[in-house]
Amino acid sequence: KNIALLAGGFTGEYDVSINSAKNIAASLNAGNYKVYTILITRDRWFYEADGETVDVDKNDFRITLNGKKIKFDFAFITVHGTPGEDGKLQGYLDMLSIPYNTCDATTSALTMNKAYTKTIVNGIHGLHTAHSLRLFEKDMHDVAIIAATLKFPLFIKPNNGGSSVGMSKVYNVAGLPDALKKAFHEDEQILVEEFIKGREFSIGIARLDGKITVLPATEIISSKDFFDYEAKYTPGVTKEVTPADLPAEKVALISEIVTEVYIRLNCKGMVRVDFILLEGIGEFYFIEINTTPGQSANSLIPQQVRAAGMDVGEFYGKLIEGAM
Ligand code: DAL
Ligand code: MG
Repeated sequence: KNIALLAGGFTGEYDVSINSAKNIAASLNAGNYKVYTILITRDRWFYEADGETVDVDKNDFRITLNGKKIKFDFAFITVHGTPGEDGKLQGYLDMLSIPYNTCDATTSALTMNKAYTKTIVNGIHGLHTAHSLRLFEKDMHDVAIIAATLKFPLFIKPNNGGSSVGMSKVYNVAGLPDALKKAFHEDEQILVEEFIKGREFSIGIARLDGKITVLPATEIISSKDFFDYEAKYTPGVTKEVTPADLPAEKVALISEIVTEVYIRLNCKGMVRVDFILLEGIGEFYFIEINTTPGQSANSLIPQQVRAAGMDVGEFYGKLIEGAM
């Protein structure tokens, strides 16, 4: 089968996506799949081989190599952020009837919006979401009102972002103006959210052989102030423990929550949900859901797949077969 592996994208997660694609291409069983990595940028969609660059024909999503048109049986999207995680490529592929690995266009667009997603998942099996404000207009914010409404520390983040790009943790009102500016640089809506003190967990979930399967959770223990871009992608900065050291009843609860989140949001393929377990009370807070989670060799999903005793290439193969 010819697989178009879509990587790149329009955001600060471009490099992350390239690393995801490298690992997916290296892991997929070469006997079953012929993988063509297609780079998606604002200017061009292209395939590179032997120093030759070939543009994708966007009319039929084909490439021509040595005079021969190549038709793809499947698109494996591993673009993080727009246009691969927010429904745009999904909508395009739907129009061409090409199957793909991710959630559909609607769910992708919805879940890219952190604030919208919070309103849907709030309350699932007692799941909480942090108090927050959503800010829309860049130059209209009175930081004193924000400070009077929410309790510091606060996280300031692009509402449609990923990998902590444009994100800050702020301890007092003096820190707000710069943080707002930084977030508004990435997005036209931002989210100001109260910090929840607790342990951070991330859990993958996927439909495999027709069955919703929860992967072992990972605990993220960052030596930085929060799990920022550097902490996410610099080896050694963050300790990631998979499977997480959690009592069995918490594992059961988080598995129920993550399954219900997957069902209610109508997820497809593999997604990864991030949580905080509130210190003292031991209740889960939802941070966000990632519908094209990172897939570099050291990323969380590959760690969790291995911890579940599965082969990563086989796991990707099941996602393809399940979506075809
Ligand atoms: N947004 C990054 C790629 C992740 O969630 O893994
Ligand atoms: Mg994310």
